[in-house]
Amino acid sequence: MHASRSEAPPLRVEQLTKRFRQGSAVVDALRGVSLSVEQGEFVAVMGASGSGKSTLLHVIAGLTGPDEGRVLVDGADLCTMSDRQLTRFRRRRIGLVFQALNLIPTLTAEQNILLPILSNGRSGSVDDRLESLISRLGLDDRRGHRPDALSGGQQQRVAIARALVTDPSIILADEPTGSLDSVAGQEFCRLLREECRQRGRTIVVVTHEPTVAMWAGRVAVLKDGQVLSEFSTSSFGDAHALATHYHEIVGAAFSTEAPR
Ligand SMILES: Nc1ncnc2c1ncn2[C@@H]1O[C@H](COP(=O)(O)OP(=O)(O)OP(=O)(O)O)[C@@H](O)[C@H]1O
Ligand SMILES: [Mg+2]
Repeated sequence: MHASRSEAPPLRVEQLTKRFRQGSAVVDALRGVSLSVEQGEFVAVMGASGSGKSTLLHVIAGLTGPDEGRVLVDGADLCTMSDRQLTRFRRRRIGLVFQALNLIPTLTAEQNILLPILSNGRSGSVDDRLESLISRLGLDDRRGHRPDALSGGQQQRVAIARALVTDPSIILADEPTGSLDSVAGQEFCRLLREECRQRGRTIVVVTHEPTVAMWAGRVAVLKDGQVLSEFSTSSFGDAHALATHYHEIVGAAFSTEAPR
């Protein structure tokens, strides 16, 4: 399922920096992040709160521009696109599940899921995909409910279905299992892995949970806006072993820091 070496990877970021200013305070949210994700690859991004994970996903999705560096999707640089081109690119290519779910309160679950494709008209394949997602995500008996009549986990599953209904080639998810119970969380991870293995989708998921990261092929660890380490998950027998390794890396990073 991997792209040949001569082709550009579907997703590559190079030396991204992003600085936020609020009043006199300055935060360097990204400090030279480079990452490449192949077709059919599932990468998990882990890191402490505030390490820059969401900022990285926002930049990859073209929701905010970096101060320096490049975001290349199939070799095309997002930073050179107009707002209109970016919007079109996002609609066609990217499925986003973000921490703020942004469901429309006046629409039912099903209408929320179909929102990204309403402008293109419904086709037979969309109907099939909709039914399959609703059933896989356990939303059959909730499709007519509005978000305020859904639990947090059900709302999250609606946001997941909405991100996948367009059949995007790149799926970006920010702590997508945060309000799911462990069974629903694992089912969602299985769905993601099928998307990448069977359909060659490219997936980047931010997560704090080793049981989610275990479904990925590779983990990138962020710390203070930099990639501290990247490792393959294949050498870990279970999520506990992965968690131990993660904490060793992050712990080692702390212990070599000079006292301030
Ligand atoms: N719009 C913004 N304005 C100012 N500072 C911001 C903004 N967005 C993020 N930051 C800062 O940038 C840093 C990285 O934030 P980011 O949201 O990327 O972290 P994160 O790794 O996703 O954390 P969490 O695990 O808590 O979601 C933080 O210090 C945060 O306070
Ligand atoms: Mg975040």
